[in-house]
Amino acid sequence: MSSVNTWKPDSYDSKLAFVSEYGKSLVELLNPKKNELILDLGCGTGDLTYEISKAGAKVSGVDYSEAMIETARRKYPQLAFQVGNGEALSDDKSYDAVFSNAALHWMKNAADVVRSVHRVLKQDGRFVAEFGGKGNVNTILQAIYEVLGDEYSLDATKLNPWYFPSIGEYSSLLESEGFRVEYARLYERPTQLPDGQEGLASWLANFGGDFFQQFSAADQSAIYAKLKAKLIPKLWRDGSLYADYVRLTVVAIKNS
Ligand code: BEZ
Repeated sequence: MSSVNTWKPDSYDSKLAFVSEYGKSLVELLNPKKNELILDLGCGTGDLTYEISKAGAKVSGVDYSEAMIETARRKYPQLAFQVGNGEALSDDKSYDAVFSNAALHWMKNAADVVRSVHRVLKQDGRFVAEFGGKGNVNTILQAIYEVLGDEYSLDATKLNPWYFPSIGEYSSLLESEGFRVEYARLYERPTQLPDGQEGLASWLANFGGDFFQQFSAADQSAIYAKLKAKLIPKLWRDGSLYADYVRLTVVAIKNS
């Protein structure tokens, strides 16, 4: 894991609740069954782990952030959560399924993640995941590159913590590591941010730590204002700000 983003569970739950809301359709795709052993990889504050548990599955959650895991444990004391690295899962259980929503784009060593998921799945177990795909938040990313380049002479492409693969790239990776890809879809999902025009600063503060952590609070505010000026004309419609999300959804079966 190379990201240095600081996770803030309270604002994650209050300002970015759409992450889990959208994830509920991925739980439907997972179709968890009673007594199935399931791992929620990158479980955050545990809302989808809880959704999966409602089917009677024996689900546990793992996340790299201690703060997120502490909050998940507080919210859902009946469920098991642990801090762990998706690039190096080690577990003596064999899972029926590994589930992951909006987390894999934070794990840049994708081959290590796929090998790790493969290791903890039982034969014929399924990997059901959705995360940012090729082109995800490209308008926001380009604006960050421009502002940090023009105002601070920084090559911000080097700070980008995210992995947004194409269908071809990710399917090939899954196949090369012993999976059969049963389903793959790349689609645009413009995502409405809460709090009107202020929602952008909150999104940047929660997710953009790798780009902005090195700046003082005053500089961060100035950068957010510049980004807002650039992005509102591009992302604002019908009274709301829509981040230009592109999702990659996959279902892959461990077959060797
Ligand atoms: C996403 O869910 O696509 C995403 C969230 C934060 C940063 C980058 C991507």
